[in-house]
Amino acid sequence: MTFSTTALDLRFDAAKALAHEMGLYAKRKFLDRGSFTVGFKGPQDYLTEVDSEVERRIFARLSTLFPQDGFIGEEGQGRQGAAGAPVWVVDPIDGTANFAHGAPHFCVSIAALVGNDVELGVIYDPMVGELFAARRGGGATLNGEPMHVSETTDLARATVEVGWNVRAGVGKYLGLLSRIAETGASPTRSGSGALGLAYVAAGRLDGYVETHMKAWDCLAAVAMIREAGGWVSDFLAGEGLREGNSIVAAAPGVKDELLRVAALV
Ligand code: IPD
Ligand code: CA
Ligand code: CA
Repeated sequence: MTFSTTALDLRFDAAKALAHEMGLYAKRKFLDRGSFTVGFKGPQDYLTEVDSEVERRIFARLSTLFPQDGFIGEEGQGRQGAAGAPVWVVDPIDGTANFAHGAPHFCVSIAALVGNDVELGVIYDPMVGELFAARRGGGATLNGEPMHVSETTDLARATVEVGWNVRAGVGKYLGLLSRIAETGASPTRSGSGALGLAYVAAGRLDGYVETHMKAWDCLAAVAMIREAGGWVSDFLAGEGLREGNSIVAAAPGVKDELLRVAALV
């Protein structure tokens, strides 16, 4: 099965509309604090009713529009799809701990792959009304305007997000954090890795590093960083799609040094 540019463009339009619609739904729930319960999947691994409901709605819509496509969602929706068909990779809410705490920094993240090519990536931040989008070979945009990585050439003037999760352990995280800080870069963490990576594409951050991420956290932003002129490690290498991988993303002027210092890939 081969997919035409038109078939992928149709999916790109659908992803943008869906991320926007679902982001606004999540925003309504976020502002009505009593409207959802908060639970945990594990230590520091939040899950709200909104995560599950947004994923269920995205899965239902994409299944109706593109019944042959595969689907991998963080909250358990999944379908194999026809051989060679696009595979959707969806994080219904990235930044769930922020969402659960009442901090307005979270997003809906939708990517689609054909084989190992990330064909499109869309991230919507409903609290500030920002739609980040990229189509492989077609550039990256923020609310429709072209988006570019930063021109920084000196890590000592850079801001680098160091993502945290419990999977890789405290020792690895602290080692990474201290190596980044020792370069003179300013380490930061926002609680939404998808938005952190999208900010690299938008030139708001100069780099992003994390010891381990899942595909739904990062693939939409991977498409954006590449199209915005940045560099990102080969997340899909090995078992990246199913098992996750470490990630390093950077503006080209600090790529070599960040890659060496992070020592993750
Ligand atoms: C998490 C966030 C966090 C990142 C973690 C992710 P979630 O996703 O993106 O910033 O550091 O690796 O698991 O749980 O908010 O969807
Ligand atoms: Ca996530
Ligand atoms: Ca999530």
